[in-house]
Amino acid sequence: MTTYITTPIYYVNAQPHLGHAYTTIVADAYSRYRRLTGDTVRFQTGTDEHGDKIAEAAAKEDVPPKVYADRISALFRETWPLLDIQPDHFIRTTDAQHVAVVQSILQQVHASGDIYFDEYSGLYCRGCERFLTEKELVDGLCPDHQVPPQEIAEQNYFFRMSRYQERLIRHIHDNPEFITPERYRNEVLSFLSEPLEDLCISRPKSRLTWGIELPFDSGFVTYVWFDALINYLTGIGYPDGVDFERYWSVAEHVIAKDILKPHAIYWPTMLMSMGLSLYRRLHVHGYWNVDDTKMSKSIGNVVRPAQLVEEYGVDTLRYFTLREMSFGLDASFNRDAIIARKNSDLANDIGNLFSRSVAMLQKYTAGLVPSPDSSGDAVLQQAVEQMLPIYREAMDGFQFHRALQAVWEVISQANKYIVTNEPWVLAKDPTRAARLHTVLYNLAECLRLLTMVLRPIMPGAAAKMARGLGLDPDHELVSSLAGCGRWGLLPVGTELQPTASLFPRVEKEKTGESQPAAGKKKAETKAETTTAANVLTFDQFQNVDLRVAEIIAAEKIKKSEKLLQLTVLVPEQRTIVAGIGEYYTPQQLVGKQVLVVANMKPATLMGIESQGMVLAARTMVDGKERLVLATVSDEIPAGSKVA
Ligand code: MSP
Repeated sequence: MTTYITTPIYYVNAQPHLGHAYTTIVADAYSRYRRLTGDTVRFQTGTDEHGDKIAEAAAKEDVPPKVYADRISALFRETWPLLDIQPDHFIRTTDAQHVAVVQSILQQVHASGDIYFDEYSGLYCRGCERFLTEKELVDGLCPDHQVPPQEIAEQNYFFRMSRYQERLIRHIHDNPEFITPERYRNEVLSFLSEPLEDLCISRPKSRLTWGIELPFDSGFVTYVWFDALINYLTGIGYPDGVDFERYWSVAEHVIAKDILKPHAIYWPTMLMSMGLSLYRRLHVHGYWNVDDTKMSKSIGNVVRPAQLVEEYGVDTLRYFTLREMSFGLDASFNRDAIIARKNSDLANDIGNLFSRSVAMLQKYTAGLVPSPDSSGDAVLQQAVEQMLPIYREAMDGFQFHRALQAVWEVISQANKYIVTNEPWVLAKDPTRAARLHTVLYNLAECLRLLTMVLRPIMPGAAAKMARGLGLDPDHELVSSLAGCGRWGLLPVGTELQPTASLFPRVEKEKTGESQPAAGKKKAETKAETTTAANVLTFDQFQNVDLRVAEIIAAEKIKKSEKLLQLTVLVPEQRTIVAGIGEYYTPQQLVGKQVLVVANMKPATLMGIESQGMVLAARTMVDGKERLVLATVSDEIPAGSKVA
């Protein structure tokens, strides 16, 4: 099968921000996913470089529009690799081939009688680069740009969009997936229930010269949307290219809701007039907001993706955006939320699962994938087999957060599997070697399949995981869902490789300094909500990562009366040095569940790094100090949060 996925081509009057990054990450993750399923994929993005907005931005900088467009277009092109985004083609509307095709299409549509000349007056929004209807205004203002539209009366060329209204309505009814999610399909149908006006597709050169000249009237340039939408065809070599043949019938566009109307109404009617088939699906997502306001250059609340990559890493940014936003709905950008997801979902859940499993395989089977016992359990196999169809359906339907929820269900089961099966206990008993090998095989095989499904979301982390499992990142065992997406294929004897931590935890303080305006404001507001020195806000309390730890080993530290070295599971294995040697013997501690602060800054005591703090109650009784460890009233899996 083939897949053709596109993003909008972005205006070059603004530098890339998180909103642009999200759409492009979505298209990249989808293209990688389709490759995983065996498709031949074409993924296209690019820049939209003509029109009022660009001419104005260039004039402000006192440079010719093309020079200006070259500069900003390059910024977009250079940003994508930083996000591990790999388009197959980057199109610019100033490309000569695009200009020629737009002119030939205009000529053809004009000759067919679908373009006519007329006088028009209407309400024009420069930000939207289109005429708005009275109905679209909110309190007399453009709802997206918060400015009153300009009343413009002039002679122009018009496209007979109204001619195709009924056919478009029928097409939307007959193809339920044409516009998704459904709320946007309904919005378009509701819009189409009113008579459609024809579309003004020219601008007189007296008002704008920065555009593609109409082939049939040199006094005019083409309206920017008529030019821009055609990029989806020119990028694949329309009309004669083999790629056009190969990809057009499967085209899928990803956009945000701001440009629904041009994509769901102008574009299909233009295609009808050209005599071409319509694109297959239009995927519409919501806005990334900051403090409930759409992130945008004009509002000045933008977050730069390159900065986020520097602070949190590319995999974290990709994971966060795809996991946090329910596709179709708005989401709020918030730095605390990225940190929470990185520390919890990535460092704790998948990071620890991976490092613990690989460490145990290194320790107990000399780094070689052991042979499972055929009568062993199928707990993880079932978990993976349940997840795969849900993952595939969700990825096919652009429900990335759902796909990730299903994957994390498996990660959580695998972490539980370790706690339940206690490989470190099995390892002590040679008669249970077969069971130990089965448990470790299951973990390694589960990690292989997790590597595969995470590949489209976090290509960098998936490559590291593959190498850790002793596989080349492009080995079909981790890159072909079609060929190797089933349990039991990891060869026994595969040699694991040492791997650095996948996702080091982020400490909140570290990120404060480089926060941009939007993030800083939040931090300041937070500080204001602290009332007195000894009163915690809820947010401050949440910063303390309290967990149940299971002590699996304890020993006295030489030359110290007070200090004990504890090995605990939280659920990952850690070392904690605790000053409780005068109150507890090591034997009394092994097997106990205690409470620990898991996000203490590591401290070195007697040459040993302590990675947490054990909590205890301490008081004076009859002139003597008494200390008892804080614990839980019933057994609960190691690592459970205390809140
Ligand atoms: N040039 C047109 C598109 C022509 S496509 C034939 C355009 N460009 S744009 O630079 O304004 O990009 C709009 C797109 O950027 C949105 O549809 C969306 O993909 C992305 N986003 C810009 N701001 C966004 C948010 N705040 N949130 C989510 N996506 C956003 O319109």
